[in-house]
Amino acid sequence: MSARVAVIVVAAGSGSRLGQSRAKAFVDVGGRTVLDRSLDPLHRLDEPVEVVVVVPAGHEAEASAILERHDGLVGRHVVVGGATRQESVVRGLDLVAETAEVVLVHDAARAFTPTAVFARVIESVRATGGGVIPAMPVVDTVKSVDEGELVTGTVDRARLRAVQTPQGFPRETLVAAYRVAQVDVTDDAGVVVDAGHSVLTVEGDPLSFKITTPDDLRRAVEHVAGPAAQAPRIGQGFDTHAFSGDDGTPLWLAGLEWAGERGLAGHSDGDVAVHALCDALLSAAGLGDLGSTFGTADPRFAGAHGEVFLAETRRLVTEAGFAVGNASVQIVGNRPRFAPRRAEAEERLSALLGAPVSISATTTDGLGFAGRGEGLAALATALLVVTHPRP
Ligand code: CTP
Ligand code: MG
Repeated sequence: MSARVAVIVVAAGSGSRLGQSRAKAFVDVGGRTVLDRSLDPLHRLDEPVEVVVVVPAGHEAEASAILERHDGLVGRHVVVGGATRQESVVRGLDLVAETAEVVLVHDAARAFTPTAVFARVIESVRATGGGVIPAMPVVDTVKSVDEGELVTGTVDRARLRAVQTPQGFPRETLVAAYRVAQVDVTDDAGVVVDAGHSVLTVEGDPLSFKITTPDDLRRAVEHVAGPAAQAPRIGQGFDTHAFSGDDGTPLWLAGLEWAGERGLAGHSDGDVAVHALCDALLSAAGLGDLGSTFGTADPRFAGAHGEVFLAETRRLVTEAGFAVGNASVQIVGNRPRFAPRRAEAEERLSALLGAPVSISATTTDGLGFAGRGEGLAALATALLVVTHPRP
């Protein structure tokens, strides 16, 4: 079967502005590459399309493996691109079957372009017999400046458009235009207009944004992750420690030292409030717990105070794509009397965590180990908000 529409997907750029170690089209976005995702909308078109993918040298096999999974697209070809986008387009154009009536040139980097945009461009090329490009109004006020950055005027933005891809043309028009093209034209419409043909703009789409900078990549990952990945996450923690048999052990609780109070036994300083809080935070982030993160016998944490655990927990949680919303800790036990130093303790833990920590305390009416004065317990709940959604 030969298709009447061919799509050249240009993916041969290096992605220097993205700054990843891989060529841009082969960067992962939520489990699939940019190139792979850029082919998705083609499956939802009403008619079969021929696809030519233009890739950097050395990526032919990977591109073929990606195309392999896109059965349903006819005439799937891979070709190595050139030093400029324009050269890459020419190499792709060489492989387009002569039976194709309409050729679209599409940036792989616009991986989320809706099918409707492709359909709109194809339909419009057929209706007009000329070139068609999707375009967006310019929203900012636009100024012209001289070499010294002095403003020389305001450009009428009503007459300006920011253009996207796919750019569509009758095949023969595009082939003829590229045959006489000047080297410094940056898009296909520029080449076609230069050659004296007409090009019409149709409505583009915000989702056709080009993945260019690290910010764009973040936006792409968020788009793939969807709204569920943005929901806040809660976690809970609980800890107990027995009072030490040794009168000389200082008490550390909620990040503070409590002079004159019997200390808690434990590998670290035994601060149940901080340990419960860290467990709540790690659990909310899906990062395991205190034991799995710090080990229960690691010599580096012998006698360590709360700030060590909280600083590292905060770092891990942030790295995992979260910010701490708030946390709440409840201390259970007879001593020390907590209320007089509540504000001080809250201030200390809030500062360490960079988020509000509220602390309450209760006795157990004489019941259980805490009631008998054998030790202390603490419960904590933490809320994390998502800063970097992951699918
Ligand atoms: N492209 C191409 N061949 C080139 C240069 C670019 O096929 N020699 C493709 C890119 O792969 C991309 C599209 O043209 O899909 C738009 O280019 P751009 O966003 O500029 O991508 P890169 O050139 O890869 O990025 P950068 O300019 O940041 O290096
Ligand atoms: Mg480029």
